[in-house]
Amino acid sequence: MPLKSRHLLGLENVPEEDINLILDTAVSFKEVLQRPIKKVPTLQGKTIVNLFFESSTRTRVSFELAARRLSADVTSFQASTSSVNKGETLLDTARNIEAMKVDMVVMRHSAVGAPHFLSRMIKSNVINAGDGTHEHPTQALLDMYTIKEKLGKINGLKVCIVGDISHSRVAMSNIYGLKTMGAEVYVCGPATLIPRHIEKLGVKVFHNIDEVIPEVDVLNILRIQLERQSVGLFPSIREYRTYFGINSERLKRAKKDILIMHPGPINRGVELDADVADGNNSVILDQVENGVAIRMAILYLLGATE
Ligand code: CP
Repeated sequence: MPLKSRHLLGLENVPEEDINLILDTAVSFKEVLQRPIKKVPTLQGKTIVNLFFESSTRTRVSFELAARRLSADVTSFQASTSSVNKGETLLDTARNIEAMKVDMVVMRHSAVGAPHFLSRMIKSNVINAGDGTHEHPTQALLDMYTIKEKLGKINGLKVCIVGDISHSRVAMSNIYGLKTMGAEVYVCGPATLIPRHIEKLGVKVFHNIDEVIPEVDVLNILRIQLERQSVGLFPSIREYRTYFGINSERLKRAKKDILIMHPGPINRGVELDADVADGNNSVILDQVENGVAIRMAILYLLGATE
């Protein structure tokens, strides 16, 4: 059963059955990743290009490993060392790469909608690996996979996303995906970091993290984007840490099996203290591990829509 779309651009309109198909397929690929030889011939003969116009550690390495473990040919493009520096446009770059007979393009770009634009212009399957502040669908899928793996379900759970919701593509994709899967979604942060009218997406808004912690099953803590600090969205890092930083003292009031999640990279001692990031409730490295299985599932399922 293939996915409804031949691209993965976001989770906004992805139906529950497609999310379940991706999560269930990833279970099989996670089993492959436990074997001594972590490789299957599923995408032999396919060529995948990772087009990264923004920095990445986890997503780029994870997509590259996923492609290799499916036996695809893969190459990674880093904008900083490419002819983009000589003024080549996104479309010209993509068309030139596609002329080399590429089947799938994985793309990260700072511009909202860049992968959507590309999907209309080239024939390859396009996967959004993060577009500006818009969506990061594979991150939300690996987050949901990790929640389901650890807590046995998503439906009915209370998940709070903490921090800079306004600038977070991770938050948006998680909100869309978790709502589709029947979770109750809370967002918590300073008013300046929460978009107005976000309640229209069916989420509950909180500004006091201590009020939320005892209630929820999952805290998904976002990186405070220090680069935005110059525009004064909150008074100081110290104040943010005081009111919203997740530390062991705050977690004393949490459910015993609460999941602590973070998409990375972490600002240790700002949004999350080191002892909590590395503590018993943290599933942060499980998220990273599951990312490979999720991306294998997506590459495999999109390959099957041809
Ligand atoms: N979570 C995430 O997207 O991390 P990278 O920016 O390192 O890919």
